[in-house]
Amino acid sequence: MQSTAPAAPDSATPTPTTPAFRRDAHSTSDPTSIWVIANKKHPLQPADYAPTDLVRPDMRNVNGQPVRQVIAPALAQMLAAAAQSGLQFQLQSGYRSYATQVSVYNAIVASSGRAAADTSSARPGFSEHQTGLAVDLSAYPASCTLQACFAGTPQGTWLAANAYRYGFVLRYPEGKEQITGYTYEPWHYRYVGTQLAAEMHATGTQTLEEFFGVTGGDYANAG
Ligand code: DAL
Ligand code: ZN
Repeated sequence: MQSTAPAAPDSATPTPTTPAFRRDAHSTSDPTSIWVIANKKHPLQPADYAPTDLVRPDMRNVNGQPVRQVIAPALAQMLAAAAQSGLQFQLQSGYRSYATQVSVYNAIVASSGRAAADTSSARPGFSEHQTGLAVDLSAYPASCTLQACFAGTPQGTWLAANAYRYGFVLRYPEGKEQITGYTYEPWHYRYVGTQLAAEMHATGTQTLEEFFGVTGGDYANAG
């Protein structure tokens, strides 16, 4: 009977191996790391950290906020790819300083109360937006801006399917509220680079907390 075994590999060709992913390479203390985790258990260090390489992304920018230079090329590539499919975006938020987060958070506390505010807005010093690595994207023309229904827009659907190719991950997925500490935000994408985004996509891991084995959820002192 003829063998169906594959031909022996050419001894000159090394056997490909997939190196184990360095899951210990995240950081909870270095806000400049593209793998930093900022959540309710892990505030920015220092609390008033500000990036030194902020640039204005080349896109419609509702609040005129910058992003870190390290994410600008990937953001531009992602938007160019979406434009090929006839989809346009606006930036609702990029980098927010500690002082800006004070204003944002306090306004939501004033209108909704602290408990409700904590489900959707980070306290000052805890926001991923303060890293300059997060973007809130909305559709242009505007549709379901900063609302759960953004997920059902062509722009929201395209991002969910394609953002990882450009190094962005949906940071607050539906059903992961107990892990991320926040309600579903289909507009909030975090740059982690293509290596990590591809690995999370390939392994079906939805949150940075689960991927890196880092604690999340509510504030240690949630009162
Ligand atoms: N909306 C997100 C959680 C923030 O305030 O950073
Ligand atoms: Zn956001």
